[in-house]
Amino acid sequence: MGKDVIVACDFATKKQVMDFLDKFKEEKPFVKIGMELFYAEGPEIVREIKKRGHKIFLDLKLHDIPNTVKKSMSVLKNLDVDMTNLHASGTIPMMQAALEGLTREDGTRPILIAVTQLTSTSEETMKSDLLINEPIDKVVMHYAENAKKSGLDGVVCSPLEAEKVHKTCGDSFITVTPGVRFADGDKGDQVRVMTPAQAKEIGSDYIVVGRPITAADDPVAAYRRCVNEFIG
Ligand code: C5P
Repeated sequence: MGKDVIVACDFATKKQVMDFLDKFKEEKPFVKIGMELFYAEGPEIVREIKKRGHKIFLDLKLHDIPNTVKKSMSVLKNLDVDMTNLHASGTIPMMQAALEGLTREDGTRPILIAVTQLTSTSEETMKSDLLINEPIDKVVMHYAENAKKSGLDGVVCSPLEAEKVHKTCGDSFITVTPGVRFADGDKGDQVRVMTPAQAKEIGSDYIVVGRPITAADDPVAAYRRCVNEFIG
């Protein structure tokens, strides 16, 4: 499995993201495009960044009836993204339909991963708002197993859950982990964080890093530091 650092390009406009990517003269970082940029700029932003030679994780977290998700995934397949995602709470039939929609005629497809419980959801809100009365880590592992049963490649999870996900679903089941901070860096609004070196240690496959790179004085140096710590 290819270990890599994915840069969360949480910018509001095409100009901001292109100005940021222009700083990279030698490397072509794996880029995460989220809802904000995609809704602002549309599919053209994916084509343009792809044309510059970057791999793309399109983080749109689909969740709808199976038929709608299948058709939407077919659109993303034609956009030629490298990784995309959905909510495991959409259930197994939705995840299976998504895979069908995403698979190209030659059998290849982008990596498809599932969001289990959002890290913004606490055990309390899961109980009060969703009426799920199980411990949150049990729910996360159950959703990861459902994703695996559906044929998905892995999950987005907290770095603290990555080890357990691998134990439950196997080492080849991919863990993509945000919440990464340098040891001497600012945590911002992330609460449970790990350094790139710790994420490597616990076996995370891809780390998603936003502000420690995008808001750094020297983003290229911060990216290189991340790659060195995580991949070595
Ligand atoms: O700037 P920062 O490194 O905190 O960015 C992390 C990225 O990962 C953001 O795009 C955020 O939306 C995303 N993310 C996260 N926690 C999750 C899922 C996604 O921080 N559980």
